[in-house]
Amino acid sequence: MRKIVVAIDGYSACGKSSTAKQVASALGYKYIDSGAMYRATTLYFLEHYINLDNPKDVAKALANLHIDFHYNERNGKNETYLNGLNVEEEIRTMRVSEKVSEVSTIKEVRHAMVAQQQKMGKSKGVVMDGRDIGTVVFPQADLKVFMTADMDVRAGRRQEELLAAGTLVDLDEIKQNLAHRDHLDSTRKESPLIKADDAIEIDTSFLSFEDQVAQVVGLAKKIINK
Ligand code: DC
Repeated sequence: MRKIVVAIDGYSACGKSSTAKQVASALGYKYIDSGAMYRATTLYFLEHYINLDNPKDVAKALANLHIDFHYNERNGKNETYLNGLNVEEEIRTMRVSEKVSEVSTIKEVRHAMVAQQQKMGKSKGVVMDGRDIGTVVFPQADLKVFMTADMDVRAGRRQEELLAAGTLVDLDEIKQNLAHRDHLDSTRKESPLIKADDAIEIDTSFLSFEDQVAQVVGLAKKIINK
């Protein structure tokens, strides 16, 4: 059967990752969380006190960091590893969330991540979510989805995620973080978050998770069976 690339882009906390993961599982495809790669890079930069304004420091850090994903059979999750260490939990903390959009504006960081993402999707059969997947990473993707959702809904969802990981964060703090990241992500010079002309927009504010997944799987199957 024909294998395709599904690109899912959109603002933070619109349900991209959980939808993409489920869509990949329904299609028997690989799921790649490109945001996790920017988060792991940010964690490395924080831990090594990298000066973001010093291109030499940034280049050295990029040469020394290695990111990959390993499937955890115990929880069924594809988890993020940084230089051989499982950082899946650490990269979701507010400490990383507060810095990640700034790190993602750096041209050299984007080039390194995009090159690795393109390699990961080379053999197709992949669902990747992020901000520039349909525009920069896979401009030829067979299916492009652009997800949006109301800010209150997004903040509530992110709060639940953080709570499930054991931290209660004030809703206003989350909203501020999301708004700040939206702004940085969509106004940065290097591959800003924009909807690709040929992307299909899905507003998830009032959709159940199951409906969200069903819509994307339906669109993908139409293309696969064409
Ligand atoms: O999807 P996420 O919230 O985990 O992504 C974290 C940050 O990474 C996000 O604020 C912007 C950046 N990012 C990016 O610039 N490009 C991508 N393809 C994915 C994420």
